[in-house]
Amino acid sequence: MSTTPAQLAAAIPKAELHIHIEGSLEPELIFALAQRNGLSLPYPSVEALRAAYAFTDLQSFLDIYYAGASVLLHEADFHDMAWAYFLRAKADNVVHAEIFFDPQTHTARGVPIATVVNGLASACDRARTELGIGSALILCFLRHLSEENAFATLEAALPYRPRFIGVGLDSSEVGHPPSKFSRVFARCRELDLRIVAHAGEEGPPAYIWEALNDLKAERIDHGVRSLEDPALVAELARRRVPLTVCPLSNLKLCVVRDLKDHPMKRLLDAGLCATVNSDDPAYFGGYMNANFVQTVEALNLTREDVIALARNSVEASFADAADKARWIEQLEQTVEAFAQKGL
Ligand code: HPA
Ligand code: ZN
Repeated sequence: MSTTPAQLAAAIPKAELHIHIEGSLEPELIFALAQRNGLSLPYPSVEALRAAYAFTDLQSFLDIYYAGASVLLHEADFHDMAWAYFLRAKADNVVHAEIFFDPQTHTARGVPIATVVNGLASACDRARTELGIGSALILCFLRHLSEENAFATLEAALPYRPRFIGVGLDSSEVGHPPSKFSRVFARCRELDLRIVAHAGEEGPPAYIWEALNDLKAERIDHGVRSLEDPALVAELARRRVPLTVCPLSNLKLCVVRDLKDHPMKRLLDAGLCATVNSDDPAYFGGYMNANFVQTVEALNLTREDVIALARNSVEASFADAADKARWIEQLEQTVEAFAQKGL
């Protein structure tokens, strides 16, 4: 019986490094939480809400994404959302997840940051004990808000410093370059937080340069527009800066017209440490394996491409060396089992 690179992609152990936990909130859970919290929604049904998920660009998505998150009020809501994500991750052979959360989306509505962090952290603890999935939280600053607001958010989060490993930068990209946040990221580096930033999703290569040089980002989230700047590609390859690429997100937000036009193969062929991720899976039509399998099929990725993507995800994670070595061993066992079956 023959096997395919897509089947290997589904089975192989992998890390997810670009998932906004609020973007894992499925319409069914939005309705369940609204009912539990006595809130009414501007949509009559789950189907009507899902039908509204027709996006033309990043902002058209963000408007609906922030509205969806408004049903999250209590610690249990954050826990239940993250737990639902971990069950999906387990089904997709995700062994480790580095999870973004947007505290300002919640504190602006009067939800204390303690509620957000405690609810997410308890789900992370449960995922480790009940599912064997490792995880870490990354606090993201909303770039459409001011640097002053980011500083206040960082200050409010400091009592929970042991519960998050790093900081990121998300929300509306164009018009909000990374350099707008140079000072708050400098403070984050003093606090030994790991640094990532969204750049080059809709914004130009110059924003990726700024993320590297001004923020000292260790990974670039998206980064697909790096291919427009050969000097940038050379720099990313030389320093092996990982890109956390999200193919179905790029398709749904019209960054690419068709998955067949997606730059993933070109990124790999340019020698970059590209990874596959789901971004906001409840909104973009699929979790980790949907992204992996559809990309492999659309671009005819090879067995070697699949192995490289899975290896890159482990390499690019902020996990410790012992965990990484264990996952690489599991990955190699899966590759070997597929080789026995003729792949
Ligand atoms: N880009 C920017 N901000 C976001 C995204 C994204 O893809 N998802 C959630 N917040
Ligand atoms: Zn994102």
